[in-house]
Amino acid sequence: MRKKIVAGNWKMNKSWPEAQALVHALIEKKALIPAGVQVIIAPPAPYLQPLSVTAAPAIAVASQNCSQHDSGAYTGEISSAMLASMQVNFCIIGHSERRQFYSENNEIIRTKVYACLRNAITPIFCCGELLAERNAGEHFNTVAAQVKDALFHLSAEDVSKVVIAYEPVWAIGTGVTASNEQAEEMHAFIRAFVSKNYNQDVANSISILYGGSVNAANAAELFACPNVDGGLVGGASLKADDFMTIIQAAQ
Ligand code: PGA
Repeated sequence: MRKKIVAGNWKMNKSWPEAQALVHALIEKKALIPAGVQVIIAPPAPYLQPLSVTAAPAIAVASQNCSQHDSGAYTGEISSAMLASMQVNFCIIGHSERRQFYSENNEIIRTKVYACLRNAITPIFCCGELLAERNAGEHFNTVAAQVKDALFHLSAEDVSKVVIAYEPVWAIGTGVTASNEQAEEMHAFIRAFVSKNYNQDVANSISILYGGSVNAANAAELFACPNVDGGLVGGASLKADDFMTIIQAAQ
């Protein structure tokens, strides 16, 4: 069944001492994490393993990316098989910054989703439209194509293991959040699209997170939307107090 999830995407931020301090601050407040809310942090790759030890069991860790390959001559890459061997159980796939700056298209993202599932890692699959696409009324088509191309080759069993994050690109790091209505409308659309291609049980088992300028002030309203199962949080996850307020909003 759908789980409440709050994931913090640190992106390329924090020195190692700062990263340790942030996790310690979160762990000090772990009693505030509501029962039933899965908390995940996605720190930069070099910090994953040591932070996973500090954060467990209250907080899980996610990689921000992985290779579509399991091993081999791919200099600079990290495989999901490696992550799995170090007890990293989640991986963000297809973030818009990967799509924009590293030319990841739906085809590459699909193979990365496969790599995660092959290695028992939960992919947090990101989708979302550009501002120009929304202004042109193309946002549903864009998101539908992303979801279909990346996920709809999967079996019902496998697709049920995926977490979807809807992140309108115009809302990421801009301070402009989707309205509750815009978020709910797209989340409901994604869930109905999954239901149509698979079935209602599958659609009801997938957590759909909202991402894009979620902060301590707007999280509660967004998370109260019926089809919003939590958030993927960038900037506001870098401050322990703000992130904890957001976690509590997912209750
Ligand atoms: P933001 O980033 O919360 O800073 O907008 C969200 C994300 O990129 O996942």
